[in-house]
Amino acid sequence: MLFVATSVAAGQSATGALTTGEAIYQAGCAGCHGPNGQGMPDTTIGFDKPATFPDFSDCRSTTPELDVDWRATIHAGGQGRGFSRIMPSFAEALTSAQIDAVIGYLRGLCRDRSYPRGELNSAAAAGDGESVSGRRDGDHDGSGRTPRAGRERRAGV
Ligand code: HEC
Repeated sequence: MLFVATSVAAGQSATGALTTGEAIYQAGCAGCHGPNGQGMPDTTIGFDKPATFPDFSDCRSTTPELDVDWRATIHAGGQGRGFSRIMPSFAEALTSAQIDAVIGYLRGLCRDRSYPRGELNSAAAAGDGESVSGRRDGDHDGSGRTPRAGRERRAGV
């Protein structure tokens, strides 16, 4: 727990001047979500990952996620949306422009452009967040791709 508290505090105080999604991610998020979005290894992450812990490189589980839901989670933290409170709130640390930038970076971690984005698929873009529950079956294929650093783009758009 000490590690988590320290890394969150460091991440949050370091994010103020950062503008690119990648810089924000590496400073504020990679300590838990890992340099490639796959999550830090269990041995070093410092907490038990909830079953819903995301793998941002896994197109199959992240493309149905809506930007509006991710924005809410990053702003309010996991607790604000009924997820694990380990996911901190960045309402104080990040501006909404920074949150949009880091979401753009998260989208780029899924490298397979054949997956259509949730927004393109769903009439529930303004939904209530129910779409996130029970969506992961734990069968991760397609991982092992190495996201190229320094690219910002929104996959599938
Ligand atoms: C202290 C560790 C920690 C840090 C730092 C952290 N997260 Fe998280 N994050 C989590 C955990 C744990 C979850 C899973 C919550 C759950 O599913 O109950 C999560 C979930 C999420 C989700 C929801 C994913 C989904 O599929 O619904 C998003 C989006 C997210 N984090 C983005 C970020 C971003 C962006 C940052 C940096 C600005 C960040 N996180 C920093 C621990 C962290």
